[in-house]
Amino acid sequence: MTDSMAFHQIVQLLQQTIGLAPHCLSDRALLQAIRQRQISCGTLDLMAYWHYLQTSTAEVTQLVEAIVVSETWFFRDYQPFVYLAQFVQQDWLPQHPYRRLRVLSLPCATGEEPYSIAITLLETGLAPQRFQIDAIDVSQAALDKAKRAIYEQHSFREKRFVERDRYFQVTSSGYQLNSAVQSTVQFRQANLLDAHAFFTASHYDVIFCRNLLIYLDEAARKIAIATLSHLLTEDGILFVGHSELSLLTSLELLRVRHPFTFAVRKDTSPKITASKSILGKPNLSKPALPKPDSSQSKPLQPPATVQHTSSPVKPANPPTPLSSASSSVLEQAQELANQGQLQAAIALCQTYLSATPTDAEAQVLFGTLQQAIGQDREAERSFQQALYLDPYHEEALMHLMLLKEQSGEPLHAEALRQRLQRL
Ligand SMILES: C[S@@+](CC[C@H](N)C(=O)[O-])C[C@H]1O[C@@H](n2cnc3c(N)ncnc32)[C@H](O)[C@@H]1O
Repeated sequence: MTDSMAFHQIVQLLQQTIGLAPHCLSDRALLQAIRQRQISCGTLDLMAYWHYLQTSTAEVTQLVEAIVVSETWFFRDYQPFVYLAQFVQQDWLPQHPYRRLRVLSLPCATGEEPYSIAITLLETGLAPQRFQIDAIDVSQAALDKAKRAIYEQHSFREKRFVERDRYFQVTSSGYQLNSAVQSTVQFRQANLLDAHAFFTASHYDVIFCRNLLIYLDEAARKIAIATLSHLLTEDGILFVGHSELSLLTSLELLRVRHPFTFAVRKDTSPKITASKSILGKPNLSKPALPKPDSSQSKPLQPPATVQHTSSPVKPANPPTPLSSASSSVLEQAQELANQGQLQAAIALCQTYLSATPTDAEAQVLFGTLQQAIGQDREAERSFQQALYLDPYHEEALMHLMLLKEQSGEPLHAEALRQRLQRL
């Protein structure tokens, strides 16, 4: 056996163990992780290391630890948490006035996601005993960090999370999360692909499975999606990452329509779908539960609805403006969109783009807004314009890919997906 064969066998083993699609990591990154483990095991012979892997499950676990990327931060993408609060107050609580809300964060990485969920629920006025959050990841190292709950500045890169001082204490080792929030989350190590680990698990009203499906190969993704579907209650909600909605096409799902939120539901119960479309007037009804301290409450967000679809969903992810000159205008436009004022947001973008047509970020935002009001053709033109300006623009590629899938152009969509994967 040559080194190259040993390398391919190791990659295959990783694929079988955690479902890692080989193209998601460069050979260089894989080799680097393998080399790091070889050094720890005291063997620089790749074939000998491969043989060792075959005899030691503990070493396979260590290799997985070296491969996984546990990058995450508090209130990542922000809007899913806004929608979560709204869902709990307006939909879930009225339906389940006495039951405990069950939430799953998988993969939870180093804990920022499940703790953000906990803070969101506490902010809605839900008492800690009214909810339970299970947080699962394959990486024990990530879970150990999550349980310590001490974070550095880079975990707080989402600037719309303004409550940090209320929930964290500055210590010499970093920002320590307060124990009341900590105690609402139970961490557990498991592999999403291990069906046995979830077979008898209870069902969840809310599942966050963000930024994992995209890294899985097709076979692993099927297993993962089947498990998630099994774990979700009939009226539950599943949040995924912004480029992962199109991967759920194997299931009959309802897409949640809320700006910049990528989530699906299982059915269209009329009790649940009472809120209006983002294209309608904002639903200004009061939250279902009074807040214990109204000074801590967040303003109500625009209403959401669910739309029946088994086809890929329209993305509405906000691009991050890069230049400071454009950022305030684009932020304003995004803010207007978040408040449901789509036409005003579009007008603002239009004015900005007529003066600065070469801003790729603005083109993407403009496209996203056009999509939100159903003008897919115009949206496509904007995404194409953005790609003309910046051929490596990931958001533009993703939006265009989903549009092509939706409009029945699978070959074009596949070409774009491959471009995305190469990025
Ligand atoms: C990029 S983090 C995502 C964290 C968080 N959900 C977010 O979106 O910020 C990906 C995590 O997936 C975990 N992971 C990878 N494969 C897994 C598997 N098969 N089962 C469970 N967790 C897995 C990794 O350990 C890593 O912590």
